[in-house]
Amino acid sequence: MCTRLYFEDSSVGDGIGYFFLPEAMNEESFKAASEFVSSTYLAQAQASRNSVSNRIQNLITQRRIPDEGWSAEAIELFIREVSLWDSNNFPSKAAIGEREGRCISPIVSNRHWGLIHGIGRSGDVSAEQPKAAGSSFLLSLTRSLVRDVIKNICGIPNLPKELVVLPIATGMGIMMGMTAVSQIHVSGGDRTMKRRNVIWSRIDQKSCIKAMTSNPYLQVHVVEQIRHADGPLVTDVTRISELISQLGTDTIHSVVVTTSTFSPRSPDDIPAVSKICKNLEIPLIVNNAYGLQCSKCCHLISESLRTGRIDLVVQSTDKNFLVPVGGSILFGPLADRVNTIYPGRASISPILDLLITLLQVGRNGLTELLQKRRENFDYLKQQLEVKLPKSKAQLLVNNNNNISLAIQLHGIVTEQLGSELFLRNVSGARVFIRHDTSKQMDPNIASLKNFGAHTSEPFVDKYLNAACAIGTTRDEIDLFIRRLIDRLGGQI
Ligand SMILES: Cc1ncc(COP(=O)(O)O)c(C=O)c1O
Repeated sequence: MCTRLYFEDSSVGDGIGYFFLPEAMNEESFKAASEFVSSTYLAQAQASRNSVSNRIQNLITQRRIPDEGWSAEAIELFIREVSLWDSNNFPSKAAIGEREGRCISPIVSNRHWGLIHGIGRSGDVSAEQPKAAGSSFLLSLTRSLVRDVIKNICGIPNLPKELVVLPIATGMGIMMGMTAVSQIHVSGGDRTMKRRNVIWSRIDQKSCIKAMTSNPYLQVHVVEQIRHADGPLVTDVTRISELISQLGTDTIHSVVVTTSTFSPRSPDDIPAVSKICKNLEIPLIVNNAYGLQCSKCCHLISESLRTGRIDLVVQSTDKNFLVPVGGSILFGPLADRVNTIYPGRASISPILDLLITLLQVGRNGLTELLQKRRENFDYLKQQLEVKLPKSKAQLLVNNNNNISLAIQLHGIVTEQLGSELFLRNVSGARVFIRHDTSKQMDPNIASLKNFGAHTSEPFVDKYLNAACAIGTTRDEIDLFIRRLIDRLGGQI
């Protein structure tokens, strides 16, 4: 069977390619097999086999995730067939280079379905790998499916055309985004790196800081979160504007903001910041680490793409799509440049994990997971409101944050609470206790007072964060609440 495929993806060749789907059992094989087995039974077998082939054909011609998820067997068959396109799996070969997709352990080879070559060519991770038509095809297909998911399921219909999936986690994605911005400035004439000031809306997460400070030329200016009249912490848009004019627009490298964040911090006011960036022609990088699972975060991005300027949005594959850590999705005008910066080749594993997961879960499954997350978030909130002993703990209202909740703690509580909960098999709970001390994370950023609170002067002295992310179950929520209340010495 020969299927002619057209990929919009401009980064893969000229967008047109011929791919052959080899079928272990084609029409002729079935005809010949009828001399061994009765043709009635064979007809049934062939129909079943064809239904898998048809599904594969629909997938690659329509480039959208299937409505119903595929069985593990169908996915394995598809990947096994495609892996035969890679030269390391050719039956007769003489590989004389130093990297020829050799894999000594059959366990390792099987773990990767024989896809050993990785993606890209030396110096260009997005280029087709001549020795690996199968891997190159799977990368391009994954991008198309991810595009479909973000546009039509997550809720960013105006998704920019530049989108890449890379085997690096979120922090590395942001770091490479910062380098891409530097390149743009230098190629635009800023040879002396005058544009070295980064304006950062404070989020107390170490990877975010490291992603900006890894370049010693950049000076990070912190804009603290401010308290909204209703309670939650929100972006200080006025301060961002003031800081830009104070430092001089032509000295600004970029503005960095975050959507998915720990309560009582809210997602940044990206629509407002992106308008400032558009008016002043300043690059804007958005950290949307786990925001694809949240319609509110996606809406903020969509709105900003419509009315403002966004150069790059970075999100994690594991936090949004229930795959192992190691991949990120980057979109926006700078995404292709990030791909170009990536030196050498890269592992296909995180891309394959994402592809397999999207095929297995399907459109209906993913929609249901996102719906369940919303319902479970409301459930967690409602249960905490009802069950927490008010003298010991109390939910802090933040209607802006639909992923993370903050629980104010009263009485004698220390940071130990986090590890005590961990010993009770509660993972992910994050405890903040005000100490009014400062942390110097890097010479190129001012020391941060009350690290963990996203602002120097937190309005709550002690709190605990709990999140309801994609995949969290009601049983887990019930267990968490029971164990927290038990630790706080309350009763359910
Ligand atoms: C808001 C935010 N940004 C960035 C990161 C870093 O992500 P990664 O570990 O995927 O690099 C995290 C991780 O928890 C995060 O919460």
